[in-house]
Amino acid sequence: MSFRTLDDLDVKGKRVLVRADLNVPVKDGAVTDATRITRQAPTIRELADKGARVIVLSHFDRPKGKVVPSMSLRPLVGPLSDAVGRKVAFAEDCIGPKAEAAVAALKDGEVLLLENTRFHKGEEDNDPAMAKQLAALGDIFVNDAFSAAHRAHASTDGVARLLPNAAGRAMQAELTHLEKALGHPERPLLAVVGGAKVSTKIALLENLVQRVETLVIGGAMANTFLAAQGINVGKSLYEPDHLETARKVMQFAAKSGAVLLLPSDVVVAKEFKQDAAHRTVPVAEIGADEMVLDVGPDSIKAFAGRLAATRTLVWNGPFGAFETRPFDAGTVAAAKAVADATKSGQLLSVAGGGDTVAALAHAGVEQDFTYVSTAGGAFLEWLEGKTLPGVEALTSR
Ligand code: 3PG
Ligand code: MG
Repeated sequence: MSFRTLDDLDVKGKRVLVRADLNVPVKDGAVTDATRITRQAPTIRELADKGARVIVLSHFDRPKGKVVPSMSLRPLVGPLSDAVGRKVAFAEDCIGPKAEAAVAALKDGEVLLLENTRFHKGEEDNDPAMAKQLAALGDIFVNDAFSAAHRAHASTDGVARLLPNAAGRAMQAELTHLEKALGHPERPLLAVVGGAKVSTKIALLENLVQRVETLVIGGAMANTFLAAQGINVGKSLYEPDHLETARKVMQFAAKSGAVLLLPSDVVVAKEFKQDAAHRTVPVAEIGADEMVLDVGPDSIKAFAGRLAATRTLVWNGPFGAFETRPFDAGTVAAAKAVADATKSGQLLSVAGGGDTVAALAHAGVEQDFTYVSTAGGAFLEWLEGKTLPGVEALTSR
């Protein structure tokens, strides 16, 4: 994978369009998780420090091509300015006269945020006319939004093809770590795939099982695998329509020689609520009126055992219902085992996608993994082995 970085650019006095992903969670007008902003700020700061006129582009939420005032990026001006350590101007449109006037007013080292790109239908359509209007605002395009790179939109794909381009520092870090984790990993390689449903991760499971030495299945999706082996999972959440999918993954594993690690013991309860009465049983002894809510200590021991012989790990999805105590124990223990192996220097660990970051934060080990991606869908598509359009646009020339 070869792409330009900020090191390859001469930006002084240039108008640099930076595609960021400011699609952060906001509640009552306040940003509730600023991770993405914090990660992308260094690119903006570095460009401004080097004398560029920095023009930040982003989508926010899903306004579907219309101006939806509640989805304006204006509330992000303050948080972005705090993160970058510079004043940030705002333009009420991302293309057209308002954007052009705001760009023309920029001086070297100044930063401008443009309004939500998805207020225009041309964004999601990847309309060449919209890409052209965006490209007219800049001399150079820098994409720092890995988490939006699975979208082939005007601001991620179209514009990248019209201007000299490069990856920003956050994009560079994502690509470098993802390449080390799955592109050219040091082996043995282990993947953890957890979460509720097999159905949302079919392509991911089928890709990973053929590329790893060990595939560890956790979360409610493990119930579907257990059921596919004829184990009675009682009242547990599972997908009867996907027993075949699970069997196919098991066949792939047998063929490629990958070890498929399913829970051997589980924590079960008769109701799903905090501190519900529960017991730990071997998977063969799940009661008809019980549901699996976490993996048990033997399963974690087996996981830790495999970990000892592993050099690279990718992780997506929790082992149990980690948001409801005490059913977080399995996820927390597994995350701590990975954190310890990483800290000891024997393991490269990369995690991302959906609930994963929240689960690691809950375990208090977010900082102890080698790398934690800020991406949701893009991370999953990357695990599926797909080419991400936003990355493709930077690497193909
Ligand atoms: C995300 O939050 O996952 C990215 O910003 C992409 O947003 P989208 O799923 O609305 O395209
Ligand atoms: Mg999303």
